[in-house]
Amino acid sequence: MLLLIGAGLLTGVIIGNKIIKNKIIENKITKESINQEKKLSNKANILYNYKKTVLSSLTQMVKLIDSVPYILYKRIHSITGIFFIGGFVVAHFINNSLAYNPKKLNELSESIHKNPLFPLVEITLIYIPLTLHMVIGSILLFKGKIDTRIKSETNYRYILQKLSAYIIMKTLLFHLLTIRFNEYLPKKFRELFNIPDKRDLTYQKVNVWFKKPLSLFGKLTYYSFVTSVAYHLSNGIWTSAITWGLAKTYERQVKLRKLSNIIFIGLTIWGYIIIHLYSKEYNKHD
Ligand code: HEM
Repeated sequence: MLLLIGAGLLTGVIIGNKIIKNKIIENKITKESINQEKKLSNKANILYNYKKTVLSSLTQMVKLIDSVPYILYKRIHSITGIFFIGGFVVAHFINNSLAYNPKKLNELSESIHKNPLFPLVEITLIYIPLTLHMVIGSILLFKGKIDTRIKSETNYRYILQKLSAYIIMKTLLFHLLTIRFNEYLPKKFRELFNIPDKRDLTYQKVNVWFKKPLSLFGKLTYYSFVTSVAYHLSNGIWTSAITWGLAKTYERQVKLRKLSNIIFIGLTIWGYIIIHLYSKEYNKHD
Protein backbone atom coordinates (compact mmCIF):
# COMPACT_ATOMS: atom_id res chain seq x y z
CA MET A 1 0.00 0.00 0.00
CA LEU A 2 2.78 2.38 1.05
CA LEU A 3 4.61 1.51 -2.13
CA LEU A 4 1.55 2.39 -4.18
CA ILE A 5 1.15 5.74 -2.40
CA GLY A 6 4.87 6.44 -2.89
CA ALA A 7 4.71 5.61 -6.59
CA GLY A 8 1.59 7.77 -6.96
CA LEU A 9 3.29 10.72 -5.23
CA LEU A 10 6.42 10.34 -7.40
CA THR A 11 4.37 10.25 -10.61
CA GLY A 12 2.45 13.31 -9.35
CA VAL A 13 5.68 15.19 -8.69
CA ILE A 14 7.13 14.25 -12.13
CA ILE A 15 3.93 15.25 -13.98
CA GLY A 16 3.66 18.47 -11.93
CA ASN A 17 7.29 19.33 -12.77
CA LYS A 18 6.65 18.75 -16.48
CA ILE A 19 3.53 20.95 -16.37
CA ILE A 20 5.46 23.74 -14.60
CA LYS A 21 8.35 23.45 -17.12
CA ASN A 22 5.93 23.58 -20.05
CA LYS A 23 4.23 26.64 -18.52
CA ILE A 24 7.62 28.40 -18.15
CA ILE A 25 8.50 27.61 -21.80
CA GLU A 26 5.03 28.78 -22.93
CA ASN A 27 5.46 32.03 -20.97
CA LYS A 28 8.91 32.53 -22.48
CA ILE A 29 7.58 32.01 -25.99
CA THR A 30 4.67 34.42 -25.43
CA LYS A 31 7.02 37.04 -23.95
CA GLU A 32 9.41 36.70 -26.89
CA SER A 33 6.62 36.95 -29.44
CA ILE A 34 5.17 39.99 -27.62
CA ASN A 35 8.62 41.61 -27.72
CA GLN A 36 8.98 40.76 -31.40
CA GLU A 37 5.54 42.17 -32.13
CA LYS A 38 6.48 45.33 -30.22
CA LYS A 39 9.69 45.65 -32.24
CA LEU A 40 7.80 45.11 -35.50
CA SER A 41 5.10 47.59 -34.60
CA ASN A 42 7.84 50.11 -33.67
CA LYS A 43 9.44 49.62 -37.07
CA ALA A 44 6.04 49.91 -38.77
CA ASN A 45 5.39 53.11 -36.81
CA ILE A 46 8.72 54.62 -37.83
CA LEU A 47 8.07 53.67 -41.47
CA TYR A 48 4.53 55.06 -41.30
CA ASN A 49 5.73 58.36 -39.79
CA TYR A 50 8.52 58.60 -42.35
CA LYS A 51 6.07 58.05 -45.23
CA LYS A 52 3.71 60.63 -43.71
CA THR A 53 6.49 63.26 -43.47
CA VAL A 54 7.68 62.58 -47.03
CA LEU A 55 4.11 62.78 -48.37
CA SER A 56 3.27 65.99 -46.53
CA SER A 57 6.57 67.63 -47.65
CA LEU A 58 5.81 66.58 -51.24
CA THR A 59 2.28 68.01 -51.01
CA GLN A 60 3.68 71.27 -49.64
CA MET A 61 6.25 71.37 -52.43
CA VAL A 62 3.58 70.83 -55.11
CA LYS A 63 1.47 73.59 -53.48
CA LEU A 64 4.48 75.94 -53.47
CA ILE A 65 5.24 75.10 -57.12
CA ASP A 66 1.60 75.74 -58.04
CA SER A 67 1.48 79.05 -56.17
CA VAL A 68 4.26 80.57 -58.34
CA PRO A 69 2.73 82.25 -61.41
CA TYR A 70 3.40 80.34 -64.66
CA ILE A 71 4.79 83.44 -66.40
CA LEU A 72 7.47 83.85 -63.69
CA TYR A 73 8.71 80.33 -64.39
CA LYS A 74 8.75 81.06 -68.12
CA ARG A 75 10.75 84.27 -67.60
CA ILE A 76 13.38 82.75 -65.29
CA HIS A 77 13.60 79.80 -67.69
CA SER A 78 14.16 82.07 -70.66
CA ILE A 79 16.77 84.30 -68.89
CA THR A 80 18.81 81.32 -67.65
CA GLY A 81 18.47 79.58 -71.04
CA ILE A 82 19.35 82.46 -73.37
CA PHE A 83 21.80 84.62 -71.41
CA PHE A 84 23.59 82.15 -69.19
CA ILE A 85 23.47 78.78 -71.01
CA GLY A 86 23.29 80.31 -74.52
CA GLY A 87 26.15 82.69 -73.67
CA PHE A 88 28.12 79.78 -72.19
CA VAL A 89 27.59 77.55 -75.26
CA VAL A 90 28.89 80.28 -77.63
CA ALA A 91 31.91 80.97 -75.37
CA HIS A 92 32.46 77.20 -75.01
CA PHE A 93 32.40 76.69 -78.78
CA ILE A 94 34.86 79.58 -79.30
CA ASN A 95 37.17 78.04 -76.69
CA ASN A 96 36.83 74.52 -78.16
CA SER A 97 37.51 75.81 -81.68
CA LEU A 98 41.11 76.17 -80.48
CA ALA A 99 41.29 72.38 -80.85
CA TYR A 100 42.86 73.04 -84.29
CA ASN A 101 46.02 73.61 -82.22
CA PRO A 102 46.06 71.06 -79.34
CA LYS A 103 49.18 72.50 -77.66
CA LYS A 104 47.75 76.02 -77.56
CA LEU A 105 44.39 74.72 -76.30
CA ASN A 106 46.01 72.80 -73.44
CA GLU A 107 48.15 75.79 -72.44
CA LEU A 108 45.10 78.02 -72.36
CA SER A 109 43.17 75.48 -70.25
CA GLU A 110 46.06 75.27 -67.80
CA SER A 111 46.23 79.04 -67.36
CA ILE A 112 42.42 79.30 -66.88
CA HIS A 113 42.38 76.50 -64.30
CA LYS A 114 45.20 78.16 -62.34
CA ASN A 115 43.05 81.23 -61.68
CA PRO A 116 41.75 80.94 -58.06
CA LEU A 117 38.50 82.70 -59.02
CA PHE A 118 37.66 80.14 -61.71
CA PRO A 119 35.65 77.74 -59.46
CA LEU A 120 33.50 80.70 -58.33
CA VAL A 121 32.87 81.67 -61.97
CA GLU A 122 31.99 78.06 -62.82
CA ILE A 123 29.48 77.80 -59.97
CA THR A 124 27.77 81.17 -60.37
CA LEU A 125 27.77 81.51 -64.15
CA ILE A 126 27.40 77.88 -65.20
CA TYR A 127 26.18 75.42 -62.58
CA ILE A 128 23.58 77.55 -60.73
CA PRO A 129 21.82 78.81 -63.92
CA LEU A 130 22.06 75.33 -65.45
CA THR A 131 20.46 73.67 -62.41
CA LEU A 132 17.75 76.36 -62.22
CA HIS A 133 17.02 75.93 -65.93
CA MET A 134 16.77 72.15 -65.63
CA VAL A 135 14.55 72.23 -62.52
CA ILE A 136 12.15 74.83 -64.00
CA GLY A 137 12.21 72.97 -67.33
CA SER A 138 11.11 69.79 -65.55
CA ILE A 139 8.30 71.70 -63.77
CA LEU A 140 7.11 73.18 -67.09
CA LEU A 141 7.27 69.74 -68.69
CA PHE A 142 5.22 68.33 -65.83
CA LYS A 143 2.63 71.12 -66.14
CA GLY A 144 2.42 71.11 -69.96
CA LYS A 145 0.86 68.41 -72.10
CA ILE A 146 2.27 66.74 -75.20
CA ASP A 147 -0.35 65.94 -77.82
CA THR A 148 1.02 64.15 -80.90
CA ARG A 149 -2.37 64.39 -82.69
CA ILE A 150 -2.08 68.15 -83.29
CA LYS A 151 -0.51 68.55 -86.73
CA SER A 152 1.07 72.01 -86.67
CA GLU A 153 4.64 73.31 -86.91
CA THR A 154 4.35 74.92 -83.46
CA ASN A 155 3.36 71.59 -81.91
CA TYR A 156 6.16 69.68 -83.69
CA ARG A 157 8.63 72.28 -82.44
CA TYR A 158 7.24 71.91 -78.91
CA ILE A 159 7.66 68.12 -79.01
CA LEU A 160 11.20 68.43 -80.40
CA GLN A 161 12.05 70.99 -77.69
CA LYS A 162 11.12 68.44 -75.00
CA LEU A 163 12.86 65.56 -76.78
CA SER A 164 16.08 67.57 -77.19
CA ALA A 165 15.93 68.55 -73.49
CA TYR A 166 15.77 64.87 -72.59
CA ILE A 167 18.77 63.99 -74.82
CA ILE A 168 20.76 66.97 -73.45
CA MET A 169 20.18 65.99 -69.81
CA LYS A 170 21.52 62.48 -70.46
CA THR A 171 24.47 63.44 -72.66
CA LEU A 172 25.44 66.46 -70.53
CA LEU A 173 25.73 64.21 -67.49
CA PHE A 174 27.99 61.90 -69.50
CA HIS A 175 29.96 64.92 -70.84
CA LEU A 176 30.57 66.34 -67.36
CA LEU A 177 31.47 63.00 -65.78
CA THR A 178 33.96 62.01 -68.44
CA ILE A 179 35.35 65.38 -69.61
CA ARG A 180 35.02 67.82 -66.71
CA PHE A 181 35.50 65.33 -63.87
CA ASN A 182 37.79 62.85 -65.69
CA GLU A 183 40.30 62.94 -62.80
CA TYR A 184 37.74 61.34 -60.48
CA LEU A 185 36.81 58.39 -62.72
CA PRO A 186 37.84 54.97 -61.33
CA LYS A 187 41.51 54.26 -62.12
CA LYS A 188 40.72 50.91 -63.77
CA PHE A 189 38.16 52.52 -66.11
CA ARG A 190 40.60 55.30 -67.05
CA GLU A 191 43.38 52.81 -67.77
CA LEU A 192 41.12 50.55 -69.82
CA PHE A 193 40.20 53.33 -72.27
CA ASN A 194 43.35 55.44 -71.98
CA ILE A 195 41.46 58.38 -70.44
CA PRO A 196 43.87 61.04 -69.09
CA ASP A 197 43.99 61.55 -65.33
CA LYS A 198 44.67 65.31 -65.45
CA ARG A 199 42.12 68.05 -66.06
CA ASP A 200 44.50 70.22 -68.12
CA LEU A 201 44.98 67.59 -70.85
CA THR A 202 41.94 69.07 -72.58
CA TYR A 203 42.67 67.90 -76.12
CA GLN A 204 43.47 64.32 -75.10
CA LYS A 205 40.49 63.91 -72.80
CA VAL A 206 38.04 64.75 -75.61
CA ASN A 207 40.11 63.08 -78.34
CA VAL A 208 39.99 59.68 -76.61
CA TRP A 209 36.19 59.53 -77.26
CA PHE A 210 36.72 60.07 -81.00
CA LYS A 211 39.37 57.38 -81.44
CA LYS A 212 39.09 53.58 -81.49
CA PRO A 213 37.79 51.68 -79.50
CA LEU A 214 35.40 54.41 -78.24
CA SER A 215 34.94 56.34 -81.51
CA LEU A 216 31.58 54.91 -82.65
CA PHE A 217 29.91 55.47 -79.30
CA GLY A 218 31.73 58.77 -78.68
CA LYS A 219 30.91 60.31 -82.05
CA LEU A 220 27.25 59.23 -82.00
CA THR A 221 26.91 60.69 -78.49
CA TYR A 222 28.60 63.97 -79.41
CA TYR A 223 26.74 64.44 -82.73
CA SER A 224 23.41 63.95 -80.96
CA PHE A 225 24.52 66.18 -78.06
CA VAL A 226 25.56 69.05 -80.33
CA THR A 227 22.45 68.73 -82.58
CA SER A 228 20.13 68.67 -79.55
CA VAL A 229 21.81 71.69 -77.93
CA ALA A 230 21.70 73.60 -81.24
CA TYR A 231 17.99 72.82 -81.66
CA HIS A 232 17.05 73.48 -78.02
CA LEU A 233 18.87 76.82 -77.95
CA SER A 234 17.69 78.10 -81.34
CA ASN A 235 14.07 77.14 -80.69
CA GLY A 236 14.41 78.61 -77.20
CA ILE A 237 15.24 81.97 -78.78
CA TRP A 238 11.94 81.85 -80.68
CA THR A 239 9.84 80.75 -77.65
CA SER A 240 11.58 83.38 -75.46
CA ALA A 241 10.55 86.07 -77.93
CA ILE A 242 6.94 84.96 -77.38
CA THR A 243 7.40 84.91 -73.57
CA TRP A 244 8.67 88.52 -73.61
CA GLY A 245 5.96 89.72 -76.05
CA LEU A 246 8.39 90.35 -78.92
CA ALA A 247 6.55 88.23 -81.50
CA LYS A 248 3.05 89.68 -81.50
CA THR A 249 2.46 89.99 -85.26
CA TYR A 250 2.43 87.06 -87.70
CA GLU A 251 5.24 88.61 -89.82
CA ARG A 252 7.44 88.94 -86.74
CA GLN A 253 6.81 85.31 -85.83
CA VAL A 254 7.76 84.13 -89.33
CA LYS A 255 10.96 86.23 -89.24
CA LEU A 256 11.91 84.93 -85.79
CA ARG A 257 11.31 81.33 -86.84
CA LYS A 258 13.63 81.84 -89.83
CA LEU A 259 16.27 83.34 -87.52
CA SER A 260 15.87 80.38 -85.18
CA ASN A 261 16.36 77.92 -88.09
CA ILE A 262 19.50 79.74 -89.25
CA ILE A 263 20.95 79.65 -85.69
CA PHE A 264 20.17 75.91 -85.49
CA ILE A 265 22.01 75.14 -88.73
CA GLY A 266 24.95 77.43 -87.81
CA LEU A 267 25.43 75.99 -84.33
CA THR A 268 25.09 72.40 -85.57
CA ILE A 269 27.75 72.87 -88.27
CA TRP A 270 30.04 74.66 -85.78
CA GLY A 271 29.68 71.78 -83.29
CA TYR A 272 30.41 69.16 -85.98
CA ILE A 273 33.56 71.09 -87.01
CA ILE A 274 34.72 71.05 -83.36
CA ILE A 275 34.19 67.27 -83.20
CA HIS A 276 36.26 66.96 -86.36
CA LEU A 277 39.04 69.16 -84.89
CA TYR A 278 39.18 66.95 -81.81
CA SER A 279 39.44 63.77 -83.89
CA LYS A 280 43.10 64.10 -84.99
CA GLU A 281 45.74 61.54 -84.04
CA TYR A 282 47.31 62.95 -80.87
CA ASN A 283 48.70 60.59 -78.28
CA LYS A 284 50.83 62.75 -75.99
CA HIS A 285 49.67 62.59 -72.39
CA ASP A 286 51.78 65.46 -71.09
C1 HEM B 1 31.75 69.27 -79.53
C2 HEM B 1 31.25 69.78 -78.48
C3 HEM B 1 31.91 69.97 -77.15
C4 HEM B 1 33.20 69.76 -76.75
C5 HEM B 1 34.35 69.25 -77.56
C6 HEM B 1 33.28 70.12 -75.35
C7 HEM B 1 34.42 70.07 -74.57
C8 HEM B 1 34.48 70.35 -73.22
C9 HEM B 1 35.66 70.31 -72.41
C10 HEM B 1 37.04 69.99 -72.93
C11 HEM B 1 35.31 70.60 -71.15
C12 HEM B 1 36.22 70.60 -69.89
C13 HEM B 1 36.68 71.98 -69.58
C14 HEM B 1 37.53 71.99 -68.35
O1 HEM B 1 38.05 70.98 -67.92
O2 HEM B 1 37.67 73.08 -67.81
C15 HEM B 1 33.90 70.85 -71.14
C16 HEM B 1 33.18 71.21 -70.03
C17 HEM B 1 31.85 71.54 -70.05
N1 HEM B 1 31.00 71.47 -71.14
FE1 HEM B 1 31.53 70.99 -73.00
N2 HEM B 1 32.04 70.54 -74.92
C18 HEM B 1 31.19 70.46 -76.00
C19 HEM B 1 29.86 70.80 -76.02
C20 HEM B 1 29.16 71.23 -74.93
C21 HEM B 1 27.81 71.67 -74.98
C22 HEM B 1 26.94 71.69 -76.24
C23 HEM B 1 27.44 72.00 -73.74
C24 HEM B 1 26.08 72.47 -73.40
C25 HEM B 1 25.63 72.92 -72.33
C26 HEM B 1 28.59 71.78 -72.87
C27 HEM B 1 28.63 71.98 -71.52
C28 HEM B 1 29.75 71.88 -70.74
C29 HEM B 1 29.80 72.23 -69.34
C30 HEM B 1 28.65 72.72 -68.50
C31 HEM B 1 31.13 72.03 -68.91
C32 HEM B 1 31.75 72.27 -67.52
C33 HEM B 1 32.32 73.66 -67.54
C34 HEM B 1 33.16 73.97 -66.33
O3 HEM B 1 32.92 73.44 -65.27
O4 HEM B 1 34.07 74.77 -66.48
N3 HEM B 1 29.62 71.33 -73.64
N4 HEM B 1 33.41 70.68 -72.41
